[in-house]
Amino acid sequence: TMPDLEQQFEQTIERDQRIEPRDWVPEAYRTTMIRMIAQHAHSEIIGMQPEGNWITRAPSLRRKAILLAKVQDEAGHGLYLYSAAETLGADRGELTAKLIAGKQKYSSIFNYPTLTFADVGVIGWLVDGAAICNQVPLCRSSYGPYARAMIRICKEESFHQRQGYELLMTMMRGTEEQRRMVQDATNRWWWPSLMMFGPPDADSSHTAQSMAWKVKRHTNDELRQRFVDMTVPQAEALGVTLPDPHLRWNAEREHYDFGDIDWSEFKQVVSGNGPCNAQRIAHRRKAHEDGAWVREAAAAHAAKLRERTA
Ligand code: ACO
Repeated sequence: TMPDLEQQFEQTIERDQRIEPRDWVPEAYRTTMIRMIAQHAHSEIIGMQPEGNWITRAPSLRRKAILLAKVQDEAGHGLYLYSAAETLGADRGELTAKLIAGKQKYSSIFNYPTLTFADVGVIGWLVDGAAICNQVPLCRSSYGPYARAMIRICKEESFHQRQGYELLMTMMRGTEEQRRMVQDATNRWWWPSLMMFGPPDADSSHTAQSMAWKVKRHTNDELRQRFVDMTVPQAEALGVTLPDPHLRWNAEREHYDFGDIDWSEFKQVVSGNGPCNAQRIAHRRKAHEDGAWVREAAAAHAAKLRERTA
């Protein structure tokens, strides 16, 4: 009966066990998980674009091979996550249709342009660094298929972060012009990276419920603070300045204090008015339309196979 099912669900969460696709879940839990996983999948797929922009112009064969591998990993993460969403009854085609119609979100961070090759390094360092901070706790998320997907994704994200940091270390050992490029890219990506963690806790509509369901394990502000604390020493080791005059160690809190985030910029970007939103969606739509013949051919092939085995 309904109360039994609900009780079972609550107990699974209570005992820190995983919810699996066969289990009954409240409709709101299903909706939340589909929303979160779909947004994450879309982010991975849209996230291929800013860095993909530099594949043909990578400065060496080695850098090109690394960048290609990284962008391919992101495609893999996206497909993997769409599969996880399908275990909840979502349809991948419909999710993509919603994305290109502007009806589902993806991370704000991928709406900023990549102006120089230093951006590739800074994306690895800051953007993938923030992604790891956010996603490592999601390996313990209550929805089994999502939590398990996060384990592999986080391993690959760690490689991405290191390749970015190594690239920046190399540039910092280079010419004055290269060091300037790294500093400029850091200046442009720092604040948008802090926005990746989402609105402040007081304005976060989903955090309380998602924490209660153990979908999220930490609040947006907790993870943002963790990221700042982790990144300041990395910036020092690299020899770049983070563009925040209010950034300083607070011995009492044992955390770094930092300046105010421009939440009006965040709102603009999330509502479709960031520097590259239109371009990102147009590119995704074109790729989807150009790929129609591949999907048709695959479906025809699958139908023939079914006929032959029947
Ligand atoms: N960019 C775009 N939208 C955002 C962002 C962001 N950086 N942060 C929050 N939002 C949206 C939320 O999706 C939500 O919108 P909705 O109600 O229309 O769905 C709204 O702002 C309010 O935010 P919250 O209540 O805080 O939402 P939530 O509890 O889902 O927390 C968060 C947001 C932290 C991003 C969470 O969904 C999450 O951890 N997701 C999984 C990780 C992920 O998607 N990462 C993508 C970027 S990393 C990468 O791909 C390399």
